[in-house]
Amino acid sequence: MAKVLYSVTMSVDGFITGPGGDMQWMRPYLGPNPAVDELTPRIGAILVGRRSHDGDDPYKGEAGEGEAFGGGWSGPLFVLTHRLPERSELDVTYVDDFTKALAAAKEAAGDRYVNVIGANVAKQCIEAGELDEVLVFYAPVLLGDGTRLFDHPGGRTVPLQRIRSTETPTANGLWFTVG
Ligand SMILES: NC(=O)c1ccc[n+]([C@@H]2O[C@H](COP(=O)([O-])OP(=O)(O)OC[C@H]3O[C@@H](n4cnc5c(N)ncnc54)[C@H](OP(=O)(O)O)[C@@H]3O)[C@@H](O)[C@H]2O)c1
Repeated sequence: MAKVLYSVTMSVDGFITGPGGDMQWMRPYLGPNPAVDELTPRIGAILVGRRSHDGDDPYKGEAGEGEAFGGGWSGPLFVLTHRLPERSELDVTYVDDFTKALAAAKEAAGDRYVNVIGANVAKQCIEAGELDEVLVFYAPVLLGDGTRLFDHPGGRTVPLQRIRSTETPTANGLWFTVG
């Protein structure tokens, strides 16, 4: 059965984008990362929010622009959106219902991970009790504003258990199970 993993690169002050969805802040931290190389073949499907899917790309102007993990992964992609497009794309399924999208992504992933992209979608996974693991890469930078890794007005405590840490010259990683 597929596990659901939220993998993300974050500034030390807890932002996954700069102001206005800026993703160019990440460019200096896209260096070789063995933990990502190890993870990508273990991903069977991606569940992504439309804002992440359509948004700024840290690989802008490079060969991997517009592709998951900068071209390091290919496979079935499920995009959550209230604005279903008329045309279809290879390997991309647009879905307007969270429960249906997650179920389809899990089925497509088989016994590999459903990798969640997008803070808003990850939050829905947490609220539905469906998030199994979190992998955070800490980039050595402060951003001051942007999209938070997890935003819950009024607060919400989500206990995590650390299962692994990784180090690279550009971003250290912490891997957790949820609960
Ligand atoms: N630092 C990193 O590692 C990293 C990685 C990936 C992305 N990012 C960035 O992080 C930001 C994440 O953005 P975010 O968390 O604000 O948004 P998001 O989760 O990527 O997408 C949110 C959007 O998904 C759609 N959606 C979500 N739930 C839905 C549901 N239940 N039913 C139908 N549609 C639904 C809606 O789009 P519609 O308006 O179409 O309905 C909603 O506005 C993006 O700017 C992205 O570029 C950062």
